[in-house]
Amino acid sequence: MADVSINIRDNGPYLVKGGVVVLDADGNSYEVKDMVALCRCGHSANKPFCDGTHKTAEFQSAPRANG
Ligand code: FES
Repeated sequence: MADVSINIRDNGPYLVKGGVVVLDADGNSYEVKDMVALCRCGHSANKPFCDGTHKTAEFQSAPRANG
């Protein structure tokens, strides 16, 4: 089993759990955390992280794995 998991929240962010490092396009890292919520809706004012704006933006997406 992988040490890192990505949970796709219905109508919300990607919850990434595990020892992940998020890097910007220049290779600089954000603060390292055991869990991060990455914006999936594109409306966050704190990209790449979710700030909860998906709720007021009424973002809708609830994909399911086939397996
Ligand atoms: S997914 Fe939460 S602000 Fe975009």
